[in-house]
Amino acid sequence: MTIDAQILTALRAGEDRFVTGGDLAQHLGLTRAAIAARIHELRTLGYEIEASPHDGYRLRACPDLLHADDLVSRLGKPRVVGRDIRVFRETTSSNDVAEKLAADGVKEGVVVFAESQSKGRGRLGRRWISPARKGLWFSILLRPALRPFEATRLTIAAATALFRAIRAETGLFPEIKWPNDLLVRGKKVAGILTELKAELDPLRYLVLGIGVDVNLNASDFSDELRKTATSLKIESGESVDRAALAASILRELDRDYARLCSGQFEAIAEEWEEHCTTIGRNVVIDLAGRKIQGRAECLDADGALLLRTQYGRLERMVGGDVRVEK
Ligand code: BTN
Repeated sequence: MTIDAQILTALRAGEDRFVTGGDLAQHLGLTRAAIAARIHELRTLGYEIEASPHDGYRLRACPDLLHADDLVSRLGKPRVVGRDIRVFRETTSSNDVAEKLAADGVKEGVVVFAESQSKGRGRLGRRWISPARKGLWFSILLRPALRPFEATRLTIAAATALFRAIRAETGLFPEIKWPNDLLVRGKKVAGILTELKAELDPLRYLVLGIGVDVNLNASDFSDELRKTATSLKIESGESVDRAALAASILRELDRDYARLCSGQFEAIAEEWEEHCTTIGRNVVIDLAGRKIQGRAECLDADGALLLRTQYGRLERMVGGDVRVEK
């Protein structure tokens, strides 16, 4: 952990109480002057840190920005997801950066946040709008011991983790729409783009790209998008703390990744099914122009959707665009 991450951790642990400069200096093995210099730097970033000559320092408020040290200090000690966090002011797509890191042999668990993306991408070749500082646009590099056809399990785990974090941080009650969307009151607030590299078996690496429309206003969406997309701020009526939500998502993902790696996919799938509004509904799935109609029954062991077609056959779906029929 960097010095700044340790300072923020100590101030957070103090909650509303002051932490003395002497305690910080001793804890971090630095002089009080060095601590004061770091506090000054954090203040220039927008951290409101109160200083009292007798009592020490107290964290009063954090700026609306994603800062790696801050996210690290919120997470504590992740097992895998979030043990290395990198924040970029702008990228083409955070998935591109994560792929480069993968090619450079970086360990799994690294998370790349972009405050804005010039070429954010969604599933099925769609564009993903990513205005600066209004959402969470990030990618996680993972190297699970899975075979390529089992990769859908990660998307299912990510959707379940997103569901829990959004509910906990906003009080909203999202629903999951197969395969990778989170909706609030029927409109999309978050999506997952899973991209993988595999040369036959096993999977070499996988990048989970997650986009959450956090504090976008209605005017940030085009007229077309506004019909189907919304943001947590629009739905809850108030701005959402992006850093707190980011930390919560990473914590939940770290937990689900551990569950998945220890063979507990079934428990994740059960939770997913409980909150997925596609299950039990008649749907039409568009697979690059080929439309399949049927009733969404459940997930199989690999995370694929089992669809009972109008002819009574059970078909296994791993992608495509789903429309729920009234
Ligand atoms: C979808 O619902 O179509 C998936 C959207 C995924 C968007 C995220 S934003 C962070 C990451 N970088 C990208 O370019 N895409 C994903």
